[in-house]
Amino acid sequence: MIQINRTTKKKIQRIRVFIVFVLVFLFIMAFYHGLVVRNYYIATNKILPNQSVRIVLIADLHGHLYGGKQEKISTLISKQNPDIILLAGDMVDDEVPMKGTELFLEAIQGMAPIYYVTGNHEIWSHKVDEIKNVFRQYGVHVLEHTYEKTTVRGIPLIIGGVDDPDIVSYQKLHFHWSDHLLRVFEELKDESAYQILLSHRPEFIDVYKKTSFDLVVSGHSHGGQVRIPFLLNGLYAPNQGWFPPYAGGHYQHETIDHVVSRGVSFNPRLPRIFNPPEIVVLEVTGEK
Ligand SMILES: [Fe+2]
Repeated sequence: MIQINRTTKKKIQRIRVFIVFVLVFLFIMAFYHGLVVRNYYIATNKILPNQSVRIVLIADLHGHLYGGKQEKISTLISKQNPDIILLAGDMVDDEVPMKGTELFLEAIQGMAPIYYVTGNHEIWSHKVDEIKNVFRQYGVHVLEHTYEKTTVRGIPLIIGGVDDPDIVSYQKLHFHWSDHLLRVFEELKDESAYQILLSHRPEFIDVYKKTSFDLVVSGHSHGGQVRIPFLLNGLYAPNQGWFPPYAGGHYQHETIDHVVSRGVSFNPRLPRIFNPPEIVVLEVTGEK
């Protein structure tokens, strides 16, 4: 009888140790905030089967520093061998010094052509024109309801981008943001090149669907801040509310691929849970 009790006690002890180990592991995983690389693969019939373009997408830096000279994030971006780099807004924060963003631009300058659109925080700074000029000084293509045609690895591309919608009220502009977007890009309808749109806000997907863009990249959601693996892809995101439908990931619509970055922001006052900052790598390949 005594023997049985001892065995049972040992078993209970082992289970306790195991549970503690699992809880510690989950705790570490939940609050891990090192940079991760998230890969997505997109097939298109607009590119020849043996061709591909590698895109690095960065969103929501908010001026955060990854190393004294941004070497942690820039090294990781460089390792992805990007053909183009897309910056999808909120790279600058209205309440954080811009130095971190400038160091980031300096660190990634020359790796690949860089395209940028504003997010709401650049608009809220009331210095959006100065900010755009800083980006231009680093050779960045600033897109503001505009597009550019380019060729990457022999593949013709059209890269468009829009300012954050808050620019309309902050700069007292006399147009409707989404109407203006549709009007400007209407002329791309008959273009055969693969078309990419940068727009900070994922929640306007119904507007993007009305365009001829093949791929839209966004940020802004910060992954919904809190995630539970396999159960919950984001608890709350600005402008989408609780349980946001576009918290982060690759969303395939009928005519459009939509990739929402969970961003690289890190704010110790607002922890990310099961939601590490991410560098997104998109491999766009010709359909076989
Ligand atoms: Fe944002």
